[in-house]
Amino acid sequence: MLNRGKAQEPLVDISIDVIKRNQHPSGAYVASPCFPNYAYCWLRDGTYTANAMDRFGEHESARAYFLWVNRTIAANRSRLERAVRAGSSVQRSELANALPARWTLDGGRDETDWPSFQLDGYGTWLWGLAEHVVRTGDAVLLEELHEGIRLTLEYLRLAWRLPNYSCWEEHGDQVHTSTLACLAGGIGRIARLIGDPSAEALAAEIRGYLLECGIVDGRLSKFCRQQGPGPQIIAPGGGVRAGRDIGDSVDASLLWVTVPFGLLGPFDPRMLRTVEEVERTLVRDYGVHRYPADTYYGGGLWLLLSAWLGWYYCEAGRLAEARSCLAWVEAQADADGLMPEQVDTHLIDPGYRQPWIERWGPVAKPLLWSHAMYLILRSELDRH
Ligand code: BGC
Repeated sequence: MLNRGKAQEPLVDISIDVIKRNQHPSGAYVASPCFPNYAYCWLRDGTYTANAMDRFGEHESARAYFLWVNRTIAANRSRLERAVRAGSSVQRSELANALPARWTLDGGRDETDWPSFQLDGYGTWLWGLAEHVVRTGDAVLLEELHEGIRLTLEYLRLAWRLPNYSCWEEHGDQVHTSTLACLAGGIGRIARLIGDPSAEALAAEIRGYLLECGIVDGRLSKFCRQQGPGPQIIAPGGGVRAGRDIGDSVDASLLWVTVPFGLLGPFDPRMLRTVEEVERTLVRDYGVHRYPADTYYGGGLWLLLSAWLGWYYCEAGRLAEARSCLAWVEAQADADGLMPEQVDTHLIDPGYRQPWIERWGPVAKPLLWSHAMYLILRSELDRH
């Protein structure tokens, strides 16, 4: 835990404050308070936010979040158990509807038609919970959350091979390499903590699949290879792009394979080649794009991904570069210290920026996940 007694840097205090003020009394963290389409809690954003709070001694906030996740999952027990009972004959739609990508802050479902079958967050919460318990020694919490853990593991055991939406809410017809990293990493982490050999075996199986199907030219690829020719993907705006072109490219979320999930070490040749390709195609002045074909708000540079690259650099001992990532993220905060999701200083496809602004409003700010990743990189730099 970092020393909260001594004066923190202003952006650290502001980030903690932004997160605290935007934690619902239920324990859920809203993705962004000022962006209507992000008025939900995603387990991906929420778990990294809780992890950031843990790193700065705000354990009560993190604890409240994990209790909320458990209550929310347990409240969907009958739907989940129906899907689980159907076993291997289960319909994809039944599994897809069992647990959604995002929840309202009181644990309800998003009833809009925004696709919602997305698994990565369920692996991520298992990882974050294990980290929280190890950091705080709160074994009682682990007991209390037994039901949520059990249901999640049963669900993921059935669902992990199915195509589902990426962490960016896209390409629901694909198996995403970074999603498998969240599942193998999260399941493995909790399995070791609670001593569950069958969950450990599941994590090993998912990791094996990832390393077999999620590698192209000796590095990780955005999509895992499925049998047959690559799918056709309708690009926003009309043209059809071959799925393989997108799928063979890198995605900055592939960094998750090393941090936090530790499925490949930072110097594994496959990871080194992945990071080289990320640096070559996605990094501009320490800001990081999501993937080469991104057009969301024109495809800007994401603060949280810059922090992720910095986290990887810490792990690889490249501390000067990690500090440059931190400085870049800090420079993107506005005069009040608020951090957006992305900035438009370098856009992949500028023509898409204005249409998105007209559709959904200005880029989300503050984004709690950006603040959280900033805090995580700060604490990693202090640790190294
Ligand atoms: C991103 C998700 C994120 C959500 C809320 C979406 O634009 O693709 O990764 O969970 O925003 O921050």
